[in-house]
Amino acid sequence: MKKILFAASEGNPFIKTGGLADVVGALPKYLNSKKFDVRVILPKYLCIPEESRQKMSHVTEFYAEMPRGREYIGIDEAAEEGITYYFIDNEHYFAGEHPYNQIFEDVNKFAFYSRAVLECLKKLDFCPDIIHCHDWQAALLPVFLKEFYDKDPFFQNTKTIMTIHNQKFQGRWQIDDIENCRDLPADCRYKAMEAYKETNFLKAGILYADRVTTVSETYAEEIKFPEGGEGLDGVMQKVSGKLSGIVNGIDYEDYNPLKDPMLAAPFGLRNITQKRKNKESLQKELGLNVDENTMLLGMVSRMTEQKGFDLVNYVMEEMLNTMDVQVAVLGTGEERFQNSFRYFQDKYPGKLSATIGYSEVLAHEIYAGADAFLMPSQFEPCGLSQLISMRYGTVPIVRETGGLKDTVEAYNEIWQTGTGFSFANYDANEMLHIIRYAYDVYRNHPKEWRMLMKRCMKTDNSWQNSAKKYEKLYLELV
Ligand code: ADP
Ligand code: GLC
Repeated sequence: MKKILFAASEGNPFIKTGGLADVVGALPKYLNSKKFDVRVILPKYLCIPEESRQKMSHVTEFYAEMPRGREYIGIDEAAEEGITYYFIDNEHYFAGEHPYNQIFEDVNKFAFYSRAVLECLKKLDFCPDIIHCHDWQAALLPVFLKEFYDKDPFFQNTKTIMTIHNQKFQGRWQIDDIENCRDLPADCRYKAMEAYKETNFLKAGILYADRVTTVSETYAEEIKFPEGGEGLDGVMQKVSGKLSGIVNGIDYEDYNPLKDPMLAAPFGLRNITQKRKNKESLQKELGLNVDENTMLLGMVSRMTEQKGFDLVNYVMEEMLNTMDVQVAVLGTGEERFQNSFRYFQDKYPGKLSATIGYSEVLAHEIYAGADAFLMPSQFEPCGLSQLISMRYGTVPIVRETGGLKDTVEAYNEIWQTGTGFSFANYDANEMLHIIRYAYDVYRNHPKEWRMLMKRCMKTDNSWQNSAKKYEKLYLELV
């Protein structure tokens, strides 16, 4: 039995701000439990909802020497669908209304987290064969492991994998200001950890980890070049021998149109017409005109530049004025995008609904009730939303980048193949053009549209296949 530890800053169902939590919450369940003992370790944020905190029980607490002095570390534990979760408790670091605060606080907080994880493993007497680190928040684990525990017999056989879910976020700050890194050797702080005169957690993790993965094959290529590398393309070129891409799946139990308790009318391939009821119920709930023939476009997303909101903003009025479409958006993020959607909602009542906030229930209702799902990302390491929408027979309209390119096959009207609509350049008019094409198929070729929906629902985007790839990687490494 190989022991694997997932170290990450979020995990479903305890704490989620985006796709990372979906992956951390699902992948461990899909790894063969006869071969792998997979556990997850997260920070015990004060903002974890009470309902989840109730599931935790206290394991132990102790103090560890760190640059600020003796630091308290509490360990809690919870079992979730057969997986053991550990939580690191320290209210100095993990208070706050959100898992992430100001970056200057976060770098110190997650440096603490990474150090604490290694201390906890010894207290728990759980010695992983592999520590699987996710994103910059866990990227210093391989660094601390090599720099501080190299000679420690406990960790002699422990290997590390660094998975990049989003290369844009790197954990960057002034080198000398990060207290919890101060005792690392100067050679490490000013060389491996340094990029463009700042500390860069992700870069350090990439260099120190035994293997590096990212969440789609196309993104694994894109980050090797200046356009996609976010300043680390040179580093990615250098480590390309240990870099690979494994596309994400989604949790087919959490997202199951046949059994989803959040839907007005569950449905499957056999009774796909039931999907209509979800559309009608969504239109009513959001104050949109109830009309079966109007094409309803859904968006569930962080409202950031990454997700292509500039393009959407640019053509929204033209789209609403020239086609019989409705738009249902759910998301939070940059103020400018939130405001523009509030403005559109005022100007186009019955046609556009913008819910600024986070809601698991409404997200499911949009995935199930919309006809098409718009995701015109500027870049997208993998993207889960397009996979979820496909599972609910909602046809994705995406830009051909990263994981979107790998998971959505463009509609071909001659061969009647494909699972969605896609455009190549980050250009608003190109996007509008492809939306018009989708609209035409929806309005004028309903049989073809129905077949498209079915192909989406039949596509297997479960974790099954990708979990096997991770298993192979783990076994290669140990
Ligand atoms: P990213 O991780 O870059 O935000 P993904 O597509 O990988 O994008 O995953 C986003 C996840 O977060 C999906 O499960 C999506 O449904 C969910 N999500 C995003 N915004 C919201 C929101 N406002 N309310 C509910 N769920 C959301
Ligand atoms: C990141 C990426 C997204 C990916 C998710 C899970 O948030 O932006 O593309 O799907 O991580 O890996």
